[in-house]
Amino acid sequence: MVKFYQSENQVPLEMHKVRVVQKLTLLPVEERLKKIQEAGNNTFLLQNKDIYMDMLTDSGVNAMSDRQTAAMHIADDSYAGSETFNRFKVAIKEVFGTDHVLPAHQGRACENILAEAFVKPGMVAIMNFHFTTTKAHVTRCGGEVLELVDKKGLLPQSDDPFKGDFDLEALKKTIEEYGPEKVAYVRIEAGTNLIGGQPVSLANMLAVADICHDYGVLSVLDASLLQDNVYFMKTREAQCKYMSTKEIYHLLADKVDLIYFSARKLGFARGGAITSHNSELIKSMMEYIPLYEGFLTYGGIDVRTIESITEGLYESLDMDYISHGPEFIAYLVKELDDYGVPVIKPAGGLGAHLNCSEIVPNVPHNQYPAAAVGAALYIAGGIRGMERGTVSEQREPDGTERYAELELQRLAMPRRVFTLSQVKYCADRVKWMWDNRDIIGGLQWVEEPKVLRFFFGRMKEIGHWQEDLVAKFREDFGDSL
Ligand code: F0G
Repeated sequence: MVKFYQSENQVPLEMHKVRVVQKLTLLPVEERLKKIQEAGNNTFLLQNKDIYMDMLTDSGVNAMSDRQTAAMHIADDSYAGSETFNRFKVAIKEVFGTDHVLPAHQGRACENILAEAFVKPGMVAIMNFHFTTTKAHVTRCGGEVLELVDKKGLLPQSDDPFKGDFDLEALKKTIEEYGPEKVAYVRIEAGTNLIGGQPVSLANMLAVADICHDYGVLSVLDASLLQDNVYFMKTREAQCKYMSTKEIYHLLADKVDLIYFSARKLGFARGGAITSHNSELIKSMMEYIPLYEGFLTYGGIDVRTIESITEGLYESLDMDYISHGPEFIAYLVKELDDYGVPVIKPAGGLGAHLNCSEIVPNVPHNQYPAAAVGAALYIAGGIRGMERGTVSEQREPDGTERYAELELQRLAMPRRVFTLSQVKYCADRVKWMWDNRDIIGGLQWVEEPKVLRFFFGRMKEIGHWQEDLVAKFREDFGDSL
């Protein structure tokens, strides 16, 4: 990290400059109220033109580098045997050390293929924590997801550096209890998304791979958020401090059976892939690629995009690039924490996570506190976050609500996108919302889809707290946007 002469002015310093810009608009607060209500209080249903800071996700919205956009011009447009794919394979070999790779159009497409290939009815897939699409594919194939994140992972406030770690004893016990033949695979999610982008230590990942090996169970690494995770390994784990990023990626690929990733995150691009040293395993999934994705040398991804992933993968080894997200997130988390806003600690990758159960303790799980805070924040600042709480869960088969362990509103930090003044604006509006938290009330369903309801569901305010929040905004901010 570059140290500032006046240490009290220390801020994260970008090791890149902006060369292409996109104009933003910030609607007046009354318009914001209208837009969020038209969107059924679901930030997925807002239009991007109505948003000032889009912090919905870090997926497919990262800024590309000059080298990535330049590489797109040399794409070799052929259905089969494209040179673009050969260059992609070289990048995979450089980053992971692996020879075999199957392209797929994004992360969940890889999950679909893994589930189709390995999950049979009555089997379990064990994970530190589920991801929404991962779980949906496992359950669609008749499997069940078991989550064995160490209990420290679910403590909202902690200074534990690796809250995504598996509970290793529970892992052994669970494999024994079900029997290895009933375990479809053990999936390690780097940068554990739904618990706040919390990393897994290298030691823990290697121990999980060893346990799987001992029991003859398949180990799978979801590397979508691995670049943030590697940053945390290098900055928080003594054994990694002097390892290169590449050594860490390679070591992991040597130990686990399969790696898959969403290139919408890892690689600053779009697309996805599954890779392994094990040619037999890759062969067992090969037929699904032409079936669901496209021929083996494009996998449903546009060749220009494959070139951008290739370049982006090399950039995923560069600490200057991979530090940006975690350092900006740490800055935002510290700003909020110093002010007393309940946030998940320590700061992780992916984004800052507001702990909504503490922000609006008066709003019960069945009135969706995390979604309510998301709507309030859009009204407060034209900022779009993502609900990562009960709305993002699936109901139980009998229709009862499954309350989330943590009611979070995620403010994702797309990589290389925002300036520090925008991050400061975000902190300012969250602080205002926190000071006015007593105004915020709950939400109720208007339309509740059966599957992945958080994407399309519509809700409305209970009472008229949103109008009250707008009135308070006008009182405090005068004619400001
Ligand atoms: N695994 C993890 C850890 C993810 O965070 C995601 C996506 C996926 C798999 C699926 O990848 O989107 O390319 O199909 N996370 C996005 C998010 C959607 O906003 O957190 P995908």
